[in-house]
Amino acid sequence: MDISEVHLICFSPTYTSKQVGEAIVRGIGFTNVAVTDLTLHVSEVNIPQHTLTVIVVPVYGGKVAPLAMERLQGIRAAGAPVVLVVVYGNRAYGNALVELDTFASAQGFKVIAGSTFIGEHSYSTKQNPIAAGRPDGDDLLYAETFGRKIRTKLDAAQDMEYLYPVDVSRIQRPRQPFLPLFKFLRRGIKLRKSGIPLPRIPNVDAERCNHCAFCVERCPAGAIIKGDECNTIAEKCIKCCACVKGCPRKARTYDTPYAALLAGCFVRQKEPRIII
Ligand SMILES: Cc1cc2nc3c(=O)[nH]c(=O)nc-3n(C[C@H](O)[C@H](O)[C@H](O)COP(=O)(O)O)c2cc1C
Repeated sequence: MDISEVHLICFSPTYTSKQVGEAIVRGIGFTNVAVTDLTLHVSEVNIPQHTLTVIVVPVYGGKVAPLAMERLQGIRAAGAPVVLVVVYGNRAYGNALVELDTFASAQGFKVIAGSTFIGEHSYSTKQNPIAAGRPDGDDLLYAETFGRKIRTKLDAAQDMEYLYPVDVSRIQRPRQPFLPLFKFLRRGIKLRKSGIPLPRIPNVDAERCNHCAFCVERCPAGAIIKGDECNTIAEKCIKCCACVKGCPRKARTYDTPYAALLAGCFVRQKEPRIII
């Protein structure tokens, strides 16, 4: 089949989604690789039919991260095949994969494979670890194997007509024991009813901050201004925690009560799933 190039498109503030995408691309094994990282930039890209695209985005609130969705609007294809991947923090991915499928189909892609992977939760800390260290070695090996399966599918098809689409809504959901989920929902409702306001932005320890501007460079939303690093513009902040996880002096923290809740209720590690 006349496909020899792969285009990785991702949005990945804390780099878990991008790691998964890179491993899938390694498994596909084409030497011709293009990367469009939408984390910090908006791009207009027209994908030619002979290019395979891999789109990888994180899940926020059971949906595709809204800023990722916004930045994907400039990507178009004329019938090119695409692999869709959502990465979530071990709680649930809700409707995100189907949402991404609806988007990709409307932009002119043919969806030939889909997957759900787990990445360390943006709110994970040492005290409240949530899927800490994921994607781990096994996840990345699984992602590479998925890439090899995609390559086999491409090689087996004589032309585009024989490259069959998949229905990503039929992907197997991970096993979710009822009790921890029930606890999470009950405590979540209690938390909301308590009226305790959830932090809209990270805290900054002004003593620790040396204004290196790392956070300014890493913020996907432009919510931190150079020279004013101890503040965050709440209206712009998407709570992705790129500034928290990346701060070289650990001056930034995002202390949401949801971290303890998630860490306590979603201890059992979920597994990645694929459909091809
Ligand atoms: C605002 C926000 C909402 C999130 N919502 C969910 C969710 O609904 N389910 C889940 O399992 N993880 C959720 N996560 C965790 C991310 O999906 C996870 O950490 C992902 O690996 C981040 O990707 P990145 O490293 O590419 O930024 C959320 C994270 C943030 C910041």
